[in-house]
Amino acid sequence: MTTTTSKRLITTTTTTKPRHLINISQLTNDEFSNLINKASHLKSIYKSEDNIEQTQKNHQKLLGKLVALLFSKRSTRTRISTEGAASFFGAQPMFLGKDDIQLGVNESILDTTKVISSMTSCIFARVNSHLDIQQLCKYSSVPIINSLCDKYHPLQAIADLLTIREKFGETKNLKLAWIGDANNVINDLSIACLKMGINVSISIPKSIQFDSNVESDAKKLATEQNLKFEIVNDPKLALENANIIVTDTWISMGEENQKQAKLKQFENYQINQNLLSDVNLASNWIFMHCLPRHQEEVADDVFYSDNSVVFEEAENRLYAAMAVIEAFVINKGDLLK
Ligand code: CP
Ligand code: NVA
Repeated sequence: MTTTTSKRLITTTTTTKPRHLINISQLTNDEFSNLINKASHLKSIYKSEDNIEQTQKNHQKLLGKLVALLFSKRSTRTRISTEGAASFFGAQPMFLGKDDIQLGVNESILDTTKVISSMTSCIFARVNSHLDIQQLCKYSSVPIINSLCDKYHPLQAIADLLTIREKFGETKNLKLAWIGDANNVINDLSIACLKMGINVSISIPKSIQFDSNVESDAKKLATEQNLKFEIVNDPKLALENANIIVTDTWISMGEENQKQAKLKQFENYQINQNLLSDVNLASNWIFMHCLPRHQEEVADDVFYSDNSVVFEEAENRLYAAMAVIEAFVINKGDLLK
């Protein structure tokens, strides 16, 4: 936009706000399902041995660009998959750990975000609180991709739904049972499942509160699609006829000081063959876990069983990150493209 005054020429640029990935709830059902299609398509391209050089050239749409990874918490899968995805599209990933930059010590989130977004194509952000993600979205001129905060983990939900679809083909009318904490992973996973026609049964201890916003979004989605969304206490109730069994750590990053109290709250919530032998499961059941895993929430006899798909699920994080870069950065937030 150019405005001329009698004294001087003032030039201001009108920029459109980028679209950010904050959580799965913000996506329409079609947008979410298209992201899964995209992840699946990119996976087949990535794994294909045909014409590798040409395939690489065709996808290097971010050649010469930078992708920032602003991580204030540890990571194995998210770091590798986002760096890998950025490289696939020709961009240079730049890891900015909490001890590498001025943020939080010498510089505000506003100034840091303005500077990083002025030089990069997108920011994968793994931060402590959802408020941090909201601040980043407010100040960034490039897409912010929530790479885990205390409330959401959308990249994990995309990889998980890709894995479920690969295992079952059709997702409609499956049942997912979550046995564990009410945390960032199940918040996005429950919404993602409902968007893809999967019934969700969550078992959490009485003393743990499920996020009320996520619960009301989930209930609305379930009603619209004639699906079941329930929160129960008894793991056996949730597990009845389940096709997909999922758990996660009981002590998320940042909750280390609550470890003893939480271990007590989760007594009898460990997933093991003994528990599973007491319930009717679907014959084709699978076990999933976003990792890292601890013995307390799932025993080896399930974690390393033939029904476990945890390592395929981890690999799918790469294709989820690729799909997100293509949709939010290359296609500028047009998720139906
Ligand atoms: N599942 C997951 O996000 O793993 P990392 O914490 O290792 O990235
Ligand atoms: N709920 C876990 C997920 C780790 C990938 C955490 O926030 O630490």
